[in-house]
Amino acid sequence: MSNYHIKHLEEYYQVYRKSVNHPEAFWEEIAEEHFLWRKKWDKVLTWDFSKPEVQWFEGAKLNITENCIDRHLLTRGDKTALIFEPNNPSEGSQHITYKSLHERVCRFANVLKEKGINKGDRVCIYLPMIPELAVSVLACARIGAIHSVVFAGFSATALATRINDADCKMVITSDGSYRGAKTIDLKGIVDEALENCDCVTTVLVAKRIHTDINMKGGRDHWLQPLLDDAYHDFPPEIMDAEDPLFILYTSGSTGKPKGMVHTTAGYMVYTAYTFKNVFQYTEKDVFWCSADVGWITGHSYILYGPLANGATSVLFEGVPNYPDFSRFWEIVEKHKVSQFYTAPTAIRALAKEGVAYTQKHDLSSLKVLGTVGEPINEEAWHWYDDNIGKNQAPIVDTWFQTENGGIMITPIPYVTPTKPTYATLPFIGIQPCLMDEEGKEIVGNQVSGRLCVKFPWPSIARTIWGDHKRYKETYFTAFENKYFTGDGALRDEVGYYRITGRVDDVIIVSGHNLGTAPIEDAINEHPAVAESAVVGFPHDIKGNALYGYVILKDTGESRDQENVRKEINQIITEQIGPIAKLDKIQFTNGLPKTRSGKIMRRILRKIAHKDTNNLGDISTLLNPEVVQSIIKNAL
Ligand code: WT7
Repeated sequence: MSNYHIKHLEEYYQVYRKSVNHPEAFWEEIAEEHFLWRKKWDKVLTWDFSKPEVQWFEGAKLNITENCIDRHLLTRGDKTALIFEPNNPSEGSQHITYKSLHERVCRFANVLKEKGINKGDRVCIYLPMIPELAVSVLACARIGAIHSVVFAGFSATALATRINDADCKMVITSDGSYRGAKTIDLKGIVDEALENCDCVTTVLVAKRIHTDINMKGGRDHWLQPLLDDAYHDFPPEIMDAEDPLFILYTSGSTGKPKGMVHTTAGYMVYTAYTFKNVFQYTEKDVFWCSADVGWITGHSYILYGPLANGATSVLFEGVPNYPDFSRFWEIVEKHKVSQFYTAPTAIRALAKEGVAYTQKHDLSSLKVLGTVGEPINEEAWHWYDDNIGKNQAPIVDTWFQTENGGIMITPIPYVTPTKPTYATLPFIGIQPCLMDEEGKEIVGNQVSGRLCVKFPWPSIARTIWGDHKRYKETYFTAFENKYFTGDGALRDEVGYYRITGRVDDVIIVSGHNLGTAPIEDAINEHPAVAESAVVGFPHDIKGNALYGYVILKDTGESRDQENVRKEINQIITEQIGPIAKLDKIQFTNGLPKTRSGKIMRRILRKIAHKDTNNLGDISTLLNPEVVQSIIKNAL
């Protein structure tokens, strides 16, 4: 039996029991046998969820890039580490070997050093999905700088908030980006953001779309000439196990985005181990995760997890519908992709276009199909199974969060019998539980409740950057001594989990995690808006879409409501990004409120869901009369 590679259901149960009964011995063995350490740990685990404090492999010394690159050089130097597939297929793909990745990362590391970046400094990376994105992430890790990748679809305001929160010294960006047939002025967005960021002294600019851009003297530098001049080797900075590796922002239900801090050793061990098993990765496979590196899925399953296993990972710059809706399947055929990992929203969008696009391509290389980011509905699950996997490639519905670092609840393909819409069983080492609203654990099967985790796993985020108090309040206060996920779940008769969705004010739109508060803040910036509330409602493709209830100020003048709708979405696009635009905006004279003045979102949610037969008791509201008028005018 191999604890590192699980191949049978019996083995899963055996290894799972070991990981739960003897977590320290279990993870110690995995860490010892499969990674390169400059010094071994003094202690495997220290934890206390009441503080909260978690440390894995305390005292150990390592560099994650040595594990992801250097140690493969002898045996896999000429193997492809990354396949870059550009936005426009006619540009041709690039195969970057482990040897070449090593050289590129080392050169970049030297450039960072030369520009004054040192261990512990924060570097913001705002790039499209091009090789420089992978290389800059790894170069930061090589020198021990903390990377903060901001998804390049975020607006200047959102970018500035994140740069300032982490006090970044440097931004790495490009002259622009391609998105299907469009180009986006990324550097312009960075310039606008930096008007409000005093902390940034250096901007490195990769050339991608070759347009004329503004370069600010003393601050902005073209990247390529610096790389050309840099030395091709760089000794890895030796890090402590618990040194921060990166910050990645995720939205909360209130307040500004939370900079989740992931540390080095535990994150490495867990992402590598999950990658190996959840995708049953073997040496000759080609793995493709279609997420953006701007999200945790991209960090863990385009870069760190695959590279730690010496895998070949596809980095795709484009979109599923460019040049047409067969792009994904064309890439699968072209690179003989073995494992394909995407979001339900992409599957639904492609399913809508019909099977002609899938039938044009040979998809027989596929062995495993993955989904992540939101619940997958039964119809999409079957479409994926029938048309992409041809009922031969098991679907792994993987549940996890930015805060978790790696996959938490998932089938293991060819091991765990799958069940549509179920993420099935906890991964090795994960101890989920369901809690009731009184804070009691719900035991037994065929039950539902709030999803928590009882015991730390190696890649749990250690804190929120600069705000440990908020970390504790958000995740460790609702249920004593448990990590609270914010999701609801049910457990079926055999113990399989199905994630039913958020139980807080976070809404998952097209797999993107959006907090209602920042969206409402943006709406309220409109001069005509007095108050607003945003809820989610079911959407065929996006899973959820956003429904805004807006009270306009009473100024006596008449307004063109369509215009106000457009302007509201314009402000949201500027403040957050186009992903947070509202699908529906209903103007109303009031919002249902409790006597303490809290908006009753439960009622607004039901109205948006067109489920108004059973609104529950509304008599205790401050203003029960507004409910009928909102229902009457619902969109
Ligand atoms: C939230 C976390 C982790 C990848 C990207 C999302 C939802 C994630 C699933 C799934 C049902 C899922 C949850 C979770 N979610 N995977 N397989 N089934 N829901 O990361 O942006 O931090 O969002 O995504 O609601 O809490 P994220």
